[in-house]
Amino acid sequence: MRSGRPAQSERFTPRTRPVVPPIHHSVTYFLDDVAYKDVQAGGLDEVWYGRFRNPTVDVAADEVRRAEDAEAAFMTSSGMGAIATTLMTLLRQGDRVVAARQVYGDTRVLLVRDLPAWGFDVEQVDAADLEAWKHAIASGPTRVVYVETLANPQLELADLPAIAVVAHDAGALLVVDNTFATPYSVQPLTHGADLVVHSATKFLNGHSDAIAGVVAGNADLVREVQRRVITLGTCLDPHAAYLVWRGMQTFELRMARSNETARALADVLSRRDDVVGVRHPSLPDYERAEVAVRVLRRDGAELRTGAMVSFTVSGGDDRALRVMRSLEVACEATSLGGVETLVSTPFNSSHFSLTPAERRAARIDDGMIRVSCGVEPSDVLIADFSRALDQEP
Ligand SMILES: Cc1ncc(COP(=O)(O)O)c(C=O)c1O
Repeated sequence: MRSGRPAQSERFTPRTRPVVPPIHHSVTYFLDDVAYKDVQAGGLDEVWYGRFRNPTVDVAADEVRRAEDAEAAFMTSSGMGAIATTLMTLLRQGDRVVAARQVYGDTRVLLVRDLPAWGFDVEQVDAADLEAWKHAIASGPTRVVYVETLANPQLELADLPAIAVVAHDAGALLVVDNTFATPYSVQPLTHGADLVVHSATKFLNGHSDAIAGVVAGNADLVREVQRRVITLGTCLDPHAAYLVWRGMQTFELRMARSNETARALADVLSRRDDVVGVRHPSLPDYERAEVAVRVLRRDGAELRTGAMVSFTVSGGDDRALRVMRSLEVACEATSLGGVETLVSTPFNSSHFSLTPAERRAARIDDGMIRVSCGVEPSDVLIADFSRALDQEP
């Protein structure tokens, strides 16, 4: 046992400013008048206890704030932590949510099982059907409208500017999950969203080695979310925050590379006779091309069409499994957004709980494979997919 106070605090002087932010593992900080004042004001501004604020978590949040061009951002324990904390911040007893039907599996569980059990009314609509949004939002006082920028795994792009107008006309707030598209391709706040949520576990971290979430947007709303993180305890661990900060240092580079690879892969796959469909915003037959032109960011004339590709092989789910298991570079694994290419088949992973008929209705075809492109050389990756498809006719 040590006797006396830890000495290392005195070593932090202006002379030793690190280039890379240190990981502040300390959960508690010496109190002074400024800290006491903050304690008494609710604890939102100063660092004195880790569940309220942490300097490493703050620097990670600031990276995402800049990427999303947001007034403010606050990190949470996970993507689900960001979504649940945001909804618990905005909703009051009896409030109504209108959400897209095409959302991540656990978000769906939160929307259709948990929120109704807690007394909230939830209606789901087809994300691509603007008339359905209008109808659902108009059919009762709506507090929150919830949508993912790019639907998983169909990769349908939401018409954010149009949905924002419908939401705001009805006095509702628009919350957008931007995990799949990332701020590299779409900045939802510039299209009218009030808050953006992320699974920072994915492309923001980029290395499949941290679970984290973030909420960004209007400063007053983010401050309310911050208040709820304190009481719900959905704060981020500082080590995970550091890994997100580090991932963000290469965010643009990684995204540029994997966007390019996704475009090349989608093009090659779309030319094959044994591939019956490819979903990627770069392709000439992309169904939401008109929305893509308005919503996606661009480099010169080129749209930033994202790092996710979904394609459907002839031969159904059996062949999809065989093809996926013949891949030698891409990894058969859940999640997305890592430097390694991650591949999964929705029928037995993200969307296994749907019946085949429900999957087809949701445009998840038999034989669909979802690809999150990493940063491997694109020719190596394309050769891997071509070989696996040839090998498993
Ligand atoms: C679109 C989307 N949102 C939210 C989440 C939840 O993120 P996390 O696993 O960090 O809680 C995921 C996870 O896959 C996701 O794909």
